[in-house]
Amino acid sequence: MVSAPPAGARAQAKTLFDLTDQVALVVGAGAGGLGEQAALALAGHGATVAVADLEPNLATLQGIASSCGPGSTAHAVDVTSEQSVRALGDAVVASHGRIDIVVNAAGVMLRRAFDETSVEDFERVVRVNLTGAWLVGREFGARMRAAGGGRLVLVTTVYAERVGPVPESAYYASKAGVANLTRSLAAELGRDGVTVNCLAPAVFYPTAMTAPLAGDPGQLAWFAERTMLGRLGDPTRDFAGPLLLLASPASAYMTGQVVYVDGGWSAW
Ligand SMILES: NC(=O)c1ccc[n+]([C@@H]2O[C@H](COP(=O)([O-])OP(=O)(O)OC[C@H]3O[C@@H](n4cnc5c(N)ncnc54)[C@H](O)[C@@H]3O)[C@@H](O)[C@H]2O)c1
Repeated sequence: MVSAPPAGARAQAKTLFDLTDQVALVVGAGAGGLGEQAALALAGHGATVAVADLEPNLATLQGIASSCGPGSTAHAVDVTSEQSVRALGDAVVASHGRIDIVVNAAGVMLRRAFDETSVEDFERVVRVNLTGAWLVGREFGARMRAAGGGRLVLVTTVYAERVGPVPESAYYASKAGVANLTRSLAAELGRDGVTVNCLAPAVFYPTAMTAPLAGDPGQLAWFAERTMLGRLGDPTRDFAGPLLLLASPASAYMTGQVVYVDGGWSAW
């Protein structure tokens, strides 16, 4: 017979995912994809949420901030710009007084053969996906360190340590960089109480990034078949749980990890 856990353990279990009084920022929430789901999940567990994305997405962002509840704010940012990311840090702290959790979901994908990819194309993808993640990590990692702790969650892909059937050399290379950036920031910030982890999703459909796959049902079916669960990731159901784990007190003893949210794709 399994004995009942001590009362202290039961009380702790109830607060593992409680984000009351915490301020969370989600960067890359403006196209309504995984970033929006992250913002809604964090708000649903008690956090006050700030959302950020490129300026043209500000109207959508404001709608997402409203859905996150009173006190939530929307901010324009371009993660490729050091100055813009610094201004975002200032704006979030000016609005909320603190920052406890940062999720960086900003990213772009380029489906193009390696020998048809220009230097400009390659550098643009790396600039958003990798330099952008580093700038966000640098800005908010330093702020969390000064405040005595925090949670930083980056987003790579199931292709962080492998590649897929579609030619995307800039995307694969940049996202592999995000996985090792995660470990690197975790190593530098661990003693200061800041955990740094990243989520590695397989194909979540539909989002703005994956919507074009509608034109290729055969490929969508292949992606679903490639998973152990036999289906694509559902942005509205399958992302929030792992995100909450990495953003909450539940993951206090996890850092430097790449957590696959891939229906078993990487386990074959
Ligand atoms: N959907 C998937 O199947 C999938 C799979 C693996 C990884 N990912 C990753 O998850 C993240 C979210 O993707 P998504 O599917 O929700 O797509 P999405 O297009 O909805 O989200 C990406 C967001 O990044 C923003 N962005 C792009 N460039 C930016 C910049 N310079 N500054 C600020 N914001 C910028 C976009 O405006 C958009 O809102 C991305 O990093 C993506 O690489 C997605």
